[in-house]
Amino acid sequence: MTIRDVLRDATGVLVAADVPSAQIDAEWLLAHTLNCRRIDLHTNGDTPLQPQSHATFAALLARRVAREPLQYLLGSGPFYGRLFHVTPDVLIPRPETEQLVDFALRGLPERPANILEIGTGSGCIAITLAIERPTATVTATDISVAALRVAKENATTFSVLDRLRLLEADGYPPHPTAPYTMIISNPPYGCEAEWDHLQPEVRDYEPRHAVIGGDDGLAVIRRIITEAPQHLISGGDVWLEIGMGQADAVIKLIATCGDYSTSQVHDDLQGIARILHAQRR
Ligand SMILES: C[S@@+](CC[C@H](N)C(=O)[O-])C[C@H]1O[C@@H](n2cnc3c(N)ncnc32)[C@H](O)[C@@H]1O
Repeated sequence: MTIRDVLRDATGVLVAADVPSAQIDAEWLLAHTLNCRRIDLHTNGDTPLQPQSHATFAALLARRVAREPLQYLLGSGPFYGRLFHVTPDVLIPRPETEQLVDFALRGLPERPANILEIGTGSGCIAITLAIERPTATVTATDISVAALRVAKENATTFSVLDRLRLLEADGYPPHPTAPYTMIISNPPYGCEAEWDHLQPEVRDYEPRHAVIGGDDGLAVIRRIITEAPQHLISGGDVWLEIGMGQADAVIKLIATCGDYSTSQVHDDLQGIARILHAQRR
């Protein structure tokens, strides 16, 4: 069979399995198998696929049919223009989180900053901030040792390990250093009740503790907001990604806290109130 035939059949198989973006996924998996670019598949459509490559591709396709996320199959996912290594130990970086980073960077001057990220996963937020602000030092925590291993690998790839401290911690670092200029997090914010209704790629493959934040989804967010003032300089920033419908509760929490001078929630590209910014008095 030629590359064109294989792609056509694989797309049909993925469509039948209700896989979103079936053709693009088939192309990514075949390009990964052949270690080539997606465009090369089209310029070499008449080339026959070798049996060994066909077998490798068929195995990957079967996993995608079972709704294993494409990024886990490829071993990487894009974030802020760079490719991050991912494994099933970490959440796959999302476009909304790129927006969180974008907002945070706009408010982050070029002068030295001391940044804390809570729940770093693949390290995509902490590492991107470290790359984009070469004078910043970043501390990043995660409750998962396996996730921290992936973050360390990415930090090594992007040569920022000398400015990134990775710590196993439940929330804030156990021994905080100097106060932070910024605290940023994309915490788990899904509700327990939502879990069974999530798309199979998330429910069956992504780490539950990376997605679910207690009964109302606010368990980790609540701790980050109430404890942040003890860890921030005066005027320091909190940037949080929050879930759909959580904005009012989060703004109320900040007001109740009394330690913040301003708070605002920005919409994501879908128009969902998603990105919280608050400033310590
Ligand atoms: C939504 S994921 C975000 C991962 C990554 N920062 C990103 O944006 O793609 C949440 C992360 O928080 C971690 N986490 C969950 N509960 C935590 C806690 N209590 N303390 C620290 N990290 C936690 C999870 O292991 C997971 O890596």
